[in-house]
Amino acid sequence: MQAVEISSPGGAEVLRPVTRPVPVAGHGQILIHIAWAGVNRPDVLQRAGSYAPPPGASDLPGLECAGVVAGVGPGVTRWKPGDRVCALLPGGGYAEYATCAAEHALPIPEGLSLRVAAALPETAFTVWSNVVMRGGLQSGERFLVHGGSSGIGTMAIQIARALGARVWATAGSAEKCASCEKLGAIAINYRNEDFVAVLRKAGGADLILDMVGGDYIGRNIRCLADDGRLAMIAFLAGPKAEINFAQIMTRRLSVTGSTLRPQSDRAKARIARELYERLWPLVEAGAVRPLIDSIFPLGQAADAHRRMEGSAHIGKILLQVSAEN
Ligand SMILES: NC(=O)c1ccc[n+]([C@@H]2O[C@H](COP(=O)([O-])OP(=O)(O)OC[C@H]3O[C@@H](n4cnc5c(N)ncnc54)[C@H](OP(=O)(O)O)[C@@H]3O)[C@@H](O)[C@H]2O)c1
Repeated sequence: MQAVEISSPGGAEVLRPVTRPVPVAGHGQILIHIAWAGVNRPDVLQRAGSYAPPPGASDLPGLECAGVVAGVGPGVTRWKPGDRVCALLPGGGYAEYATCAAEHALPIPEGLSLRVAAALPETAFTVWSNVVMRGGLQSGERFLVHGGSSGIGTMAIQIARALGARVWATAGSAEKCASCEKLGAIAINYRNEDFVAVLRKAGGADLILDMVGGDYIGRNIRCLADDGRLAMIAFLAGPKAEINFAQIMTRRLSVTGSTLRPQSDRAKARIARELYERLWPLVEAGAVRPLIDSIFPLGQAADAHRRMEGSAHIGKILLQVSAEN
């Protein structure tokens, strides 16, 4: 099969088209003939050598895809060859075929093409598990997401709005802010506005989803409302901060966070079940739709990474792997 591998840790140029054997579905796994694959910031980190695949995962990058089931391993009853699925992958999405646990695949939501569905899994699993399952977002609460125009951010805004929250989002340009507002958020251009002042004026954030870290950590704590929660999913500006923990005690704050990829198959299957039961109906009703920024052919994955690292993108970047729609 055609694939794109990381020939050695480094810049986008280390992504190299190769021919590899088609993987074999093991016990409880399915083999997917990939039509479209999503590009995520963790792929960029893996390519640079700072995010190693977990033991047993493919060394090829790619954490999500949509396509058609091409084979099932022993013990799989839920899927059969020909089924159209989108799936969270442990790796291996930059290829014509990939395997994953059968429970990490979901049916294509009604009304969605394979192309749009390929943009769902990584952000849906991450946002739902941190915002809903860990963060406990409730209707009527005030929710703040940083990096609002990112793949994660655009999904977080829509999920929070669909759940009835009031949403604020930070972004670094007028164009990015406009896209956040179009999705239903109050946008804060962090280059000329202080998100702490904006949120405090509104009564404080009940939940914050943060991928920035660095000095945002202390500022997040300052703008949380009493009983507020902070969920960390990345540290683009660094993981260290000096925190006044008395704030956490006196205002009953909670700090949490998670990273998806190293979690057990069982934990990911639990998230998948919640997505199917609670998020898929919102997607099918049109309340949540992945925002697609751009599409590159698989062989031009390096350009897709350059687009992501340039940070001009709004929403998701996809790779077209085969002609299937
Ligand atoms: N924990 C998990 O399980 C998990 C899973 C998936 C993704 N993630 C993380 O979530 C984040 C978003 O992922 P994504 O795939 O949606 O990526 P993405 O679209 O590239 O989003 C990154 C966004 O962060 C903003 N940003 C703020 N400060 C930044 C900085 N110092 N450097 C670079 N960007 C900065 C940028 O927008 P502005 O121009 O507005 O600053 C950019 O659009 C990434 O950090 C990723 O590693 C975590």
